[in-house]
Amino acid sequence: MLLSLSLCALLVAGPSSVASFYLPGVAPTNYQIGDRVPLTVDRLTPSQSEKDSQVQSVFAFDYYHNAFHHCEPEGGPKQKSESLGSILFGDRIQSSPLELHMGKNESCKAVCGKQTFQPRDAKFVNRRILQNYNVNWNIDGLPAAQKMIDANEAIFYSPGFALGQVHGVELDNLTPVLNNHYNIFVEYHQAAQDTYRVVGVLVEPASSRDSKLLDDGKVDCGVTSDPVILSEKEPTEIIWTYSVYWVPSPTSFATRWDKYLHVYDPRIHWVSLTISALIVVALVGMVSTILLRTLRKDIARYNRLDDLGLDDFGGTNLDDTVQEDSGWKLVHGDVFRPPRHPMVLSILVGNGAQLFMMTGFTIAFALLGFLSPSNRGSLTTVMVMLYTFFGAVGGYVSARVYKFFHGDAWKQNIAFTPLLVPGTVFSVFFLLNLFVWARQSSGAVPFTTMLALVAIWFLISVPLSVGGSWLGFRGPESKPPVRTNQIPRQIPPSTGYLRPLPSMFLVGILPFGAIFLELYFIISSIWFSRIYYMFGFLFLCYGLMIATSAAVTILMVYFALCAENYHWQWRAFFTSGASAIYVFLYAMLYWVRALSFTSWTSGVLYLGYSALISALWFVLTGTIGFVATWAFVYKIYGSLKID
Ligand SMILES: *[C@@H]1O[C@H](CO)[C@@H](O)[C@H](O)[C@H]1NC(C)=O
Repeated sequence: MLLSLSLCALLVAGPSSVASFYLPGVAPTNYQIGDRVPLTVDRLTPSQSEKDSQVQSVFAFDYYHNAFHHCEPEGGPKQKSESLGSILFGDRIQSSPLELHMGKNESCKAVCGKQTFQPRDAKFVNRRILQNYNVNWNIDGLPAAQKMIDANEAIFYSPGFALGQVHGVELDNLTPVLNNHYNIFVEYHQAAQDTYRVVGVLVEPASSRDSKLLDDGKVDCGVTSDPVILSEKEPTEIIWTYSVYWVPSPTSFATRWDKYLHVYDPRIHWVSLTISALIVVALVGMVSTILLRTLRKDIARYNRLDDLGLDDFGGTNLDDTVQEDSGWKLVHGDVFRPPRHPMVLSILVGNGAQLFMMTGFTIAFALLGFLSPSNRGSLTTVMVMLYTFFGAVGGYVSARVYKFFHGDAWKQNIAFTPLLVPGTVFSVFFLLNLFVWARQSSGAVPFTTMLALVAIWFLISVPLSVGGSWLGFRGPESKPPVRTNQIPRQIPPSTGYLRPLPSMFLVGILPFGAIFLELYFIISSIWFSRIYYMFGFLFLCYGLMIATSAAVTILMVYFALCAENYHWQWRAFFTSGASAIYVFLYAMLYWVRALSFTSWTSGVLYLGYSALISALWFVLTGTIGFVATWAFVYKIYGSLKID
């Protein structure tokens, strides 16, 4: 309760303190006037259409994909070394032939010579234009952006700029127009004498059919002329041109990301977060007070009866006390009976603990500002690394739980804990990647990266997990506080909301309620390369989610125990994990609201990854519910005096 209150206090403390924690510890690059400022290119990504703000594809394409006919630098494009995370997320950063010199305005330069689009390429590019693909460039770690204005008339920079424009309104006469000219506006800041830094990059693309190379090596950009329409019947010739303008800016290097990290309406965000937090806090408070009160009374009465000795009572009285003694105390001889399939449950709990640690530490790192948006993919890299190292925790927890269930196939437990869940995840990931690969999309994870992942898994994670398991099995068995009877008790049939499915659906919505706000932003950042940075919010939501999962699962299991149903282990896991159903439904709702895929492979990919994330969410929340309930059951039966 106190924790919830302090969380709440932190929440009200003000948006700035939580939201501005992204401040990266990245050293600025200094330039002098005339220095070359490198421009790197990244993959092309789908973006929202202006008309209905829907996204139509999930595939990204390599900048130097043949069909685009982008000019390559001399000697071919060079791969920039990237982190594992940014490769997994599909970034392909490469060098480019565009030349920018600090502080030197240059108008109308050709990137390279004439390019000819054959009808096949034209068809491919036109389709990408109709799907609103964006071109992504980086200059000094900053993404080239387009200036946007939100509903509150606030100006912000949206990373990426349009590959083309769509002319026409009717659905059957939409004409795709290719942008072949770029007006690049680089904002720069004078930090000291002769020291300049890049603090913002805007690109205004344009289209001009009549731009041509003149005989004297100069270029005519012909900006006022007709747009470029790639014919799908005959070859079309174009040239790529660009102009560079350096605009002095008062923005300092430390705050240069502010314009990019734009919250659409922070007020709504805060209001709804506060409301859901208050509901959650009230709920947790209510649950804990009710439980503490009733339980304390119950335990006190039970122990008093025990002290007096039931034999002292007359026959009628004895009946009374037995009557009163119904409920959770009756099942003390069965409550620690191992559940069915103890192996599967312990493996899931072990893996859940591993995920729990990974998520918590990742969010904490991000919150402390270790993961800068300038270091692309650092978040994913950190997640993979943490997951690998917390394999030890997974093995330990799995072994402890399995031992508690009196499992004796400990060899299988050690072997399957690091294989079952990661193996499933990897297989699904591999299968989905085949789709991406078949589409020639650059999002496909290269085979070598796959091998590297398998190597990390088997060379680091598995041994750590085995070590953890070994420690777990070596330790003494945690003895349950009450003895288990030889003969299992009959369980009365459950009714109403205590039946497994209704209780799952009822309970699952509450942990989901704690995070669904952030889920929207996380989904958009996964699929549409938006930058996610609200780790302050996410941290609070993660805390609220844990508290809610634990509280409602304990309450549900308490009710079940009162109804003399002592099968609490799987029930706790499933009721808490049920929020995964809502996460999946939410992803589907997002699909309906914000996506309109034009190919079935996009749909398969979206569906597959949503299912995968929901499954991991199930393991994570299920574990939280199970562990909380375990502690609870241990505590209440531990305070009973039974001879
Ligand atoms: C370059 O162009 C920009 C935009 O037109 C202008 O604001 C700036 O003063 C120019 N810089 C120089 C050095 O001419």
